Amino acid sequence: MNRLHGKVVIITGAAGGQGSAEARVFAQEGAKLVLTDVAEEGLKRVAAGVKNHGGDVLTIVHDVSSEEGWKTVIEQTVERFGAVHALINNAGIITREGIEETTLEMWEKIQSVNSRGIFLGIKYVTPEMRKSGGGSIVNISSIWGIVGSGGSAAYHASKGAVRLLTKTAAVEYAKDRIRVNTIHPGVIKTPMLATNKNVEKLKEQTPWPRLGRAEDIVYGALYLASDESTFVTGTELIIDGGYTAK
Ligand SMILES: NC(=O)c1ccc[n+]([C@@H]2O[C@H](COP(=O)([O-])OP(=O)(O)OC[C@H]3O[C@@H](n4cnc5c(N)ncnc54)[C@H](O)[C@@H]3O)[C@@H](O)[C@H]2O)c1
Repeated sequence: MNRLHGKVVIITGAAGGQGSAEARVFAQEGAKLVLTDVAEEGLKRVAAGVKNHGGDVLTIVHDVSSEEGWKTVIEQTVERFGAVHALINNAGIITREGIEETTLEMWEKIQSVNSRGIFLGIKYVTPEMRKSGGGSIVNISSIWGIVGSGGSAAYHASKGAVRLLTKTAAVEYAKDRIRVNTIHPGVIKTPMLATNKNVEKLKEQTPWPRLGRAEDIVYGALYLASDESTFVTGTELIIDGGYTAK
């Protein structure tokens, strides 16, 4: 309990499987939360659940690919809570097409959410974190940001970009005591998996004998957001049941 006591944490994609689980656990650990997503109804549901358990929550409908949107999120966060200590850049989308089936439009849409969204988050949160004497940014990449799968070309490229953007941000912001790390989830049972026709195959290919759960990721994000990880920056936390260990 209280691993995030007094910390103000922004979570993007908070209406989704992993984001909503992070919201619940982070609130139990004492965080004040800013929950954002494009899915307004889902966001309201998640926020109501957190508030019912005594959590202090601000919700903002926010498209992470929008620069204006990020300015608003940071302004409203500071107005409500006075500071921002951690950002979980979690929002993401997927397409599963190979390179020749990927249209330019699909490519750009995926990069704009998964990669540009994270760039903008880092760009607009760091000045506020600097004012607070530091902070922690956790970028959700994927095992598909480390290894190829033979499909989902645009997704792989976007998640690989997150991995390297994170490392260079870690180097750039260490002097400001702002830590920047990635998490690389494996196959995690959330709504994103609903459109994946290869789940059984992926499960068989995963050494650990079950699919991942949102909670498996949450506790990694909690560690990286908290002061328990103050010497950890630029690292890749792979949480995949051993998929990439083979
Ligand atoms: N589920 C998996 O197997 C898996 C594996 C590796 C990585 N990931 C990554 O984990 C993160 C969380 O995904 P999840 O599994 O919870 O999926 P999810 O689909 O349940 O949640 C994603 C959330 O992002 C929101 N979102 C989509 N576009 C947005 C935008 N433009 N602006 C703001 N919010 C937007 C959605 O509304 C949704 O609530 C994503 O970045 C995803 O790529 C997931």
